[in-house]
Amino acid sequence: MSETPPEMSNPQLRCIEPSCSHGYDINEKIYTCPACNGLLDVAYCFNDLDPEEIKDVWRLRRLSNAPIDASGVWRYRELIPFVSDYSQVVTLKEGNTPLFDGPRSASYAGLRNLTFKHQGMNPTGSFKDNGMTTGATQARVLQARTVACASTGNTSASMAAYAAAAGITAAVFVPGGQIALGKLSQSLEYGAVTLQIDGDFDTAMKLVIELSRETDLYLLNSINPFRLEGQKTIAIEMLDQLDWIVPDRVVVPGGNLGNVSAIGKAFKELFNAGFIRRMPRLTVIQAKGANPFVEMLENKQDHLTPVTANTLATAIKIGNPVSWKKALRALAWTNGDFAEVTEEEIADAKAMIGRDGIGCEPASAATLAGIKKLVDSGKIDKDETVVAVLTGNLLKDPAYTIDYHSGELIDPTNNQKISSQFANPPRKVPANKEQLKAILSL
Ligand code: F0G
Repeated sequence: MSETPPEMSNPQLRCIEPSCSHGYDINEKIYTCPACNGLLDVAYCFNDLDPEEIKDVWRLRRLSNAPIDASGVWRYRELIPFVSDYSQVVTLKEGNTPLFDGPRSASYAGLRNLTFKHQGMNPTGSFKDNGMTTGATQARVLQARTVACASTGNTSASMAAYAAAAGITAAVFVPGGQIALGKLSQSLEYGAVTLQIDGDFDTAMKLVIELSRETDLYLLNSINPFRLEGQKTIAIEMLDQLDWIVPDRVVVPGGNLGNVSAIGKAFKELFNAGFIRRMPRLTVIQAKGANPFVEMLENKQDHLTPVTANTLATAIKIGNPVSWKKALRALAWTNGDFAEVTEEEIADAKAMIGRDGIGCEPASAATLAGIKKLVDSGKIDKDETVVAVLTGNLLKDPAYTIDYHSGELIDPTNNQKISSQFANPPRKVPANKEQLKAILSL
């Protein structure tokens, strides 16, 4: 890692509130604006970049074995230039996630084609790794001794892994009994101090924000703007893989609303710096039982009203999303769109993504359910080019999948059994060859 960093594009932390816009030194340990408590961006000036030249550099780096080139985040370092010493980078070769065609999913939603960007193929199985490599790197730059996050499971799994790789202590705060077991097992295995809070995600989030202000805990939730810098590369890598042909629409599930914010910032920066000539419509999908952002947009309110979240898609079981103002900005930049989907719609969409041989965790399937809804209502045309971001791996939440296929999934919003349109239950069979031949029509 001896390469010198690209010209520092004057990075600074900047308040996103238009009435404030205060700037701060990039290495101040702050998460919100000390002047007005607004959210912070890592802000740069990209005037000196030659997009066509850089696109070629990025392509060539795929042939390199240097760790920062092999990372699907740091490969795009010209657009995340906040690090002045690459020896500080903490990487697990994240990103590099594939695009898949989903023909069955496309026809289920009523589209001619549908592409999935599968962030579940990351080292810890979710898109959080894209942001954790940058967040953990900044933690190392700031010489943090302990990093912390509140989590519905994926952030904690990812943070635990990157903290382990960096040799930093990790403390994760998870809502007790409310996260998928695959995720819980990861934070244990990676050695994090795992605190099961007696309360929901929003309670854990509030606690950890307060603790990080009162102590030297370094907060690695997506309120930390360095996390979102890494998540920008989900959009950059997607466009690189599409040979810079911009899709009509990019669809993401919304929980704490960090990811839609990061992807929106990427499109805006790529557009302003001349990498792309138009922006895709960013479309955020929430579960009906955890829909405060959709409610706000639907009712044309200018402020988010928190809800008590209730959904089996535990990753997005969030009632008071921290980044809603950045998400709103992202939708404004991209002429964005939104929808909410029921538990049954998520569950059936997830099974359909499985039938394409792809698979994902429940929150990710909200994308396909939302696309179907927007096609049915005429808001998406069948010929649109659509990329859905699958945020987490199928293996994160096996209990959900088994319950669905066994017809045992209970919708927590009405306590009814979900009908499991695409159930594929396991069958108990005798150890008898003749009967097996009959069952398999051999
Ligand atoms: N999909 C998955 C699989 C997630 O884990 C999350 C968030 C989201 C979607 C929503 O993304 O919060 O950026 O809007 N999981 C966080 C966590 C909250 O703690 O793992 P978001």
